[in-house]
Amino acid sequence: MARSLVLDGESLVAPGEIRRAARRFAATNPSDLIVAKAELAVSLDLSIRQFRSGVEPRAIIERLSEALHQLRRRFHPEVWDVIVPIAQSHPVAHYLHQDPLTRWSFEKPRGYSGDARLLDFIYGRPEIEDAVASSSTLGRSIYAYTRNASSSVAVRERRDILARRVDEIASARPGSTEVLAIASGHLREGPLSRALGAGAIKRWVALDQDPMSVGTVARDFAGTSVEALNGSVKSLLGGRHALGMFDFVYAAGLYDYLPDAVAVKLTKKCVSMLKPGGTFLFANFSPATDVDGYMETFMNWALLLRSEHEMGLIASESAAGADLKVSVWPGSNRSVVYCEIEKQP
Ligand SMILES: C[S@@+](CC[C@H](N)C(=O)[O-])C[C@H]1O[C@@H](n2cnc3c(N)ncnc32)[C@H](O)[C@@H]1O
Repeated sequence: MARSLVLDGESLVAPGEIRRAARRFAATNPSDLIVAKAELAVSLDLSIRQFRSGVEPRAIIERLSEALHQLRRRFHPEVWDVIVPIAQSHPVAHYLHQDPLTRWSFEKPRGYSGDARLLDFIYGRPEIEDAVASSSTLGRSIYAYTRNASSSVAVRERRDILARRVDEIASARPGSTEVLAIASGHLREGPLSRALGAGAIKRWVALDQDPMSVGTVARDFAGTSVEALNGSVKSLLGGRHALGMFDFVYAAGLYDYLPDAVAVKLTKKCVSMLKPGGTFLFANFSPATDVDGYMETFMNWALLLRSEHEMGLIASESAAGADLKVSVWPGSNRSVVYCEIEKQP
């Protein structure tokens, strides 16, 4: 267990941090809490009865996810804060944690949320096949649902979009393209890039806070132009790396943990590292994510969700006065939104 990893404090990846940061104190109606608790109890008790009587796991978790999504959406965040630990300590967790993806997320063996191995469960990588094979039959059925939930589909599309953007940018600048991935994890978009395979990328710097992920990238991409780099949002903002300039800088799976002020600072920094004509892209889960309640409870995986409007605000605050083109667009199922900032040539 890599508990020795020191988090930089800029991204709220430690368990519980996002909920604490998002907490807004307001007088909530006490009856709301009673209603929410009652609705939760009905939903969880029904789930457990269904598991015991052999109802198809997909149907159980689909209904439960929707109920949790509605609870999260309808009630004040303070009420939701009370609901989360109640759900987490309910005996139905015993069934749901048989899913290796849900369990990994909940237990956080790397000490923080959203580590690269968790993403490997979503990508369905060979590296996690043993963990899936050694799960119970029920666990594998639940995994068949969670790995194909809307959020997982969106994460795989995000990986594909990144590889495609790298290839598009590289085809316009053959041989000279320089790319920076911030919070690169295992850089699973790398093998999907035809330009990388063809040796058409000059350098692809993959920066991450987690030395284990950095080591995996260094090993998996040895002999390519990928340079694995141990660094963090804090070290980047503090100017502790002399990285030079890039044609494409991107961050996926990071802004979901960054409070607005840090998101703006990081965006400014990324834009400052663009060559003329270069692009910065960042992605964020959106409020349209319909499995947010399940993620926050049984996966203990809280995210800062952002709408297209909120993405635009980060871009406009970061890019004020500069000669930049901003575009914001949703992924196919709208669970992830993208913002691209292009520096004029
Ligand atoms: C959800 S994963 C995304 C990995 C990869 N970008 C992908 O899309 O598959 C989040 C990654 O962000 C990294 N991370 C989180 N906070 C960070 C920080 N403050 N500085 C650098 N990396 C960070 C984690 O180590 C992890 O690898």
